[in-house]
Amino acid sequence: MVIKEITSTVGLIDPLEALLLNCIYSGASVGFVTPINDEELTSYWKFVGQELDKGYRKLFLAYDGENIIGSVQLSICSKPNGSHRGEVEKLMVHTNARGKGVSKKLMSFMEKVSFKIGLSLLVLDTRLGDVASSLYLY
Ligand SMILES: CC(C)(COP(=O)(O)OP(=O)(O)OC[C@H]1O[C@@H](n2cnc3c(N)ncnc32)[C@H](O)[C@@H]1OP(=O)(O)O)[C@@H](O)C(=O)NCCC(=O)NCCS
Repeated sequence: MVIKEITSTVGLIDPLEALLLNCIYSGASVGFVTPINDEELTSYWKFVGQELDKGYRKLFLAYDGENIIGSVQLSICSKPNGSHRGEVEKLMVHTNARGKGVSKKLMSFMEKVSFKIGLSLLVLDTRLGDVASSLYLY
C-alpha cells in the first residue's frame, strides 16, 4: 500500500465516486444521505478538483496497486487570520481494506505535509462514538 498526494482529479472521478459510494452505503457520516444519485457524487468530486486547482485543498489517496482504497482531504483555511489552520475532511477507507492501518497511514502522511506547508492547527468534526472519533485521538 502506498499513499500519494494527488494534485488533480482528472481521470480519477470514477474510482473516487466508487470509494465515496462504498463509504456512504456502509453507514459513514461523510456529509451525504441516502439515496444518492450519480450527479451528486460527480459534482462533489468536480468541486474537489476545482479546489485542488486553486490550491485551496489537498487530496491524499491510498493505493493498493492500481486501486484506490482510501482517501483524506485537507482544506486550507483562506481567511487572513487562519493561514495556520487546515480542516481534515472525508477520511475514508474502502470496506474491503479496513482494519489494516490504512487510515492511520493516510492521517500520518497528511499531518507531515501539513507541517511542511506551515500549518500548526488541524481541525475536524466527527460523530461521537464512530470508529473515526477514537482514531483521531492518536
Ligand atoms: C474510520 C475509517 C477511516 C478507519 O479506517 P481503517 O483503515 O479501517 O482504520 P485503521 O485500520 O487505520 O485503524 C485505526 C484505528 O482505528 C480503530 N479501528 C479501526 N477500525 C475499527 C473497528 N471496526 N472497530 C473498532 N476500532 C477500529 C482502531 O483503534 C485502530 O487502531 P489500532 O491500530 O490501535 O487497532 C474507516 O472505518 C472508514 O472509512 N469509515 C467510513 C468513513 C468514516 O466514517 N470516516 C470518518 C468520517 S469523520
